[in-house]
Amino acid sequence: MICPHVWQPSDVARPVILLLSGPNLNLLGDRQPEIYGSETLLEHVAAARERAQQKGFDLEHVQSNHEGDLIDAIHGARGRVASIVINAGALTHYSWSLHDALTAYKGPVVELHLSDPKEREPWRHLSVIEPVAVASVVGKGGSGYPEAIDIAIDAFSKSDD
Ligand code: DQA
Repeated sequence: MICPHVWQPSDVARPVILLLSGPNLNLLGDRQPEIYGSETLLEHVAAARERAQQKGFDLEHVQSNHEGDLIDAIHGARGRVASIVINAGALTHYSWSLHDALTAYKGPVVELHLSDPKEREPWRHLSVIEPVAVASVVGKGGSGYPEAIDIAIDAFSKSDD
């Protein structure tokens, strides 16, 4: 019998990594597979969650095609979430509101892209996320997801020392 008043190890809240996915990433698997690969966003999230859980972290994921939803999610992460991993999609290249929201978040931020935007059209070369990120993982396709989680966890662990 489990007595509700007895402390259980599972009662200990695990630190949370927030993974944010911007516009059009819900179409992964179908959208330009020659650039972004054939895996779906759900598959990338599952790989990211598995890596986070192996290291004792939980993973929350928010995908939105709306800038304000992503900003709200960043506000909701303040003082609560260990680190943020963000693939902001095309908002990467012009959303100073996203930049400002991430600046107001105190934990480490890792920028993530499936492709390498700097190897593509000139308008993709500017990243407004890069200046607020501890690292950028680019051009590695789906394997970038667990790698970005590793970096986010390492950066949080170092900041926690
Ligand atoms: C992307 C790169 C962006 O330039 C593009 O707008 C995307 C996906 C990537 O993961 O490679 O939507 O963020």
